[in-house]
Amino acid sequence: MLLTLEGLDGSGKSTVWEALRDRYPDVVFTREPTDSWYGDAVARSMGDGDADPLAELFLFTADHADHLSRVIRPALSEGSVVVSDRYTDSRFAYQAASLADSYLAGGRDPLEYIQEIHDAFTHPPDATVYLDVDPETAADRAGATNKFEHAAYLERVRENYERLIDRDPDRFVRVDATRPLPDVVEVVEDEAARLLGDEV
Ligand code: TYD
Repeated sequence: MLLTLEGLDGSGKSTVWEALRDRYPDVVFTREPTDSWYGDAVARSMGDGDADPLAELFLFTADHADHLSRVIRPALSEGSVVVSDRYTDSRFAYQAASLADSYLAGGRDPLEYIQEIHDAFTHPPDATVYLDVDPETAADRAGATNKFEHAAYLERVRENYERLIDRDPDRFVRVDATRPLPDVVEVVEDEAARLLGDEV
């Protein structure tokens, strides 16, 4: 069972992830970007306002490939439950927003292109909790410490998350993350208990 947490920066995702980690000591908790050297490369790219968006997509994707082989697949094959703070949908939503300005040849849709790349090798999540927050609240809370945290960009990211939810409604659980953080944590804890059920 692979459960992922997704949402805009400032949605409270990391706080929720920490609360779940305290509650489920036997679950494997992980995150993307990872703390490997691939993750370091991603961080360097995020810090570069001029980074090429396609190069950046492949750095994030390289980090994901390493995460799969080093953490996700071994944990799942041991029968562990895995909870990841961000996963494939972050690429589909964020890098599709970065690539939006007709970067790809032949009028290709960035979100579909990024999904195709992943389809060839990834392990899809079983369930995804989406912390839904408006881009202004998200940008305010996140304090815009990286280039992805500005409201106009986050608006595009949010539209991409909505497309993903429309296409795969059964996988997603939407949680209203504009509510005070303790309420958000409580709702996600209830949803996690329901989703993880007997597995933990
Ligand atoms: P981080 O500081 O770890 O933020 P958070 O706590 O919100 O997850 O930075 C992760 C940033 O990287 C965040 O702005 C979202 C972005 N991101 C992508 O653009 N693509 C991805 O595939 C992933 C995993 C993250």
